[in-house]
Amino acid sequence: MALVIRTDNMYSDAVGDQGVHPARIETLAPRLKTVHARVAEDLVQGLAGTYGCLTLSATMVPELERIHETAAAIRATCQDLVVVGIGGSSLGTKAIWHALHETLPAGPRLHFVENVDPYDLKLLLARLTPEDTALICISKSGGTLETVVQFLVLRDWLITHLGTERARRRQWIVTDPEQGWLRALAREEGIPSLPVPPSVGGRYSVLSPVGLLPLAAAGVDIDTLLAGGRELACVCQDGHFDANPALEMAALYYLLDTEQDKRISVMMPYVNRLRLFVDWYCQLWAESLGKERAGTTPAGSLPVRAMGAVDQHSQLQMYLESRNDKMFTFVELTHWEDDAIIPLGAADRDHYPHLRHKTIADIIDAEFQATREAITDARHPNLTIEIPGVNAFVLGSLIELYQRVTVYTGLLYGINPLDQPSVEKGKRIAIRYLQTRKRLTHLSDIRP
Ligand code: PA5
Repeated sequence: MALVIRTDNMYSDAVGDQGVHPARIETLAPRLKTVHARVAEDLVQGLAGTYGCLTLSATMVPELERIHETAAAIRATCQDLVVVGIGGSSLGTKAIWHALHETLPAGPRLHFVENVDPYDLKLLLARLTPEDTALICISKSGGTLETVVQFLVLRDWLITHLGTERARRRQWIVTDPEQGWLRALAREEGIPSLPVPPSVGGRYSVLSPVGLLPLAAAGVDIDTLLAGGRELACVCQDGHFDANPALEMAALYYLLDTEQDKRISVMMPYVNRLRLFVDWYCQLWAESLGKERAGTTPAGSLPVRAMGAVDQHSQLQMYLESRNDKMFTFVELTHWEDDAIIPLGAADRDHYPHLRHKTIADIIDAEFQATREAITDARHPNLTIEIPGVNAFVLGSLIELYQRVTVYTGLLYGINPLDQPSVEKGKRIAIRYLQTRKRLTHLSDIRP
């Protein structure tokens, strides 16, 4: 497996009574087996199953030809590709693109239009030329307010400058195969589109056309991305936590929250390229697991973003001395491709003898080791995922790993990790608010 997962510091042997006692996870083993069996039995149905999202790394393989063809058409059309989508229709794609974009072959520049901000949208439009721009609008439901509104603005801009027909050839849609406004638009106007499999919900969809199409258009090796996901899926076949890393992680995160009061789950990578991966993880964790449970405490530990080493100069103080209510996940890059010796002059050597013959990677490694040691000494449970590089294979594995961990953890809590009723409620209230509120669009409206 590309990833090495070190769980020792989650257990009581390393962090005393703040960690999970090995006997406790053993007693959970029968439930873990049941949870695993429930998912495994469902996965046999592929995309038709409830957990179809966990089959994407395999079930998308036959779709790759169509995705590559569509991506090639997009690449041939534009120098700037605007990806319109929000939440699960954006965060995973952004994370992978951000991690890899410096390594990609020449291709379109990607712009993510996600949050609604008239200032940013205007700035973006001012930087783009319609002749060189293409749009992909991505929404599973096909009707999310932020996405629809910004797509309308961008389409209108293209149509105004290029006319309806030329503008149509610069638009692509990824949405539900049957339902929603976007699907209807694709049909009515003949806009090329790819389907989001109905069983696959937003935050679990990055390995579907939701992520694969824009990433392929940007030049990401999506075949390898899926291969990374498949490798991870392969090592999660076993029903015993000892032989299934996702099951063991789920058990530990669950037990630490419900029995050790670790209500906060900090993810802290020591590699800048994973900065946005943490955003993706936070959404997946929060939206999947933050759920009410009848008659007992609500489910879910609060996911928190941190970055090594910068947060050593910020959050770490609190992590070490404030309430012991956190568990930590570190991500460590074990091999840096581009490293450099620290140049020391004679005078510098006297001041910094410990830097002699050291590289930049030695420094980040020392920072990481130091933080992990301090966190462990302070008896905070922590887990480390070692990655050998930042590439499509590793990212595919990380995505697959956390999707599985999240589903298993949700089932241990006894909640549905695939729905998001409160997010949907927010969407409905925003629409009601728009229906009832009069917008003052001209100064004359407020002048007497
Ligand atoms: O995970 C989810 O379901 C959400 O975060 C959605 O992805 C988000 O609300 C966007 O929804 P849609 O893809 O329908 O536009």
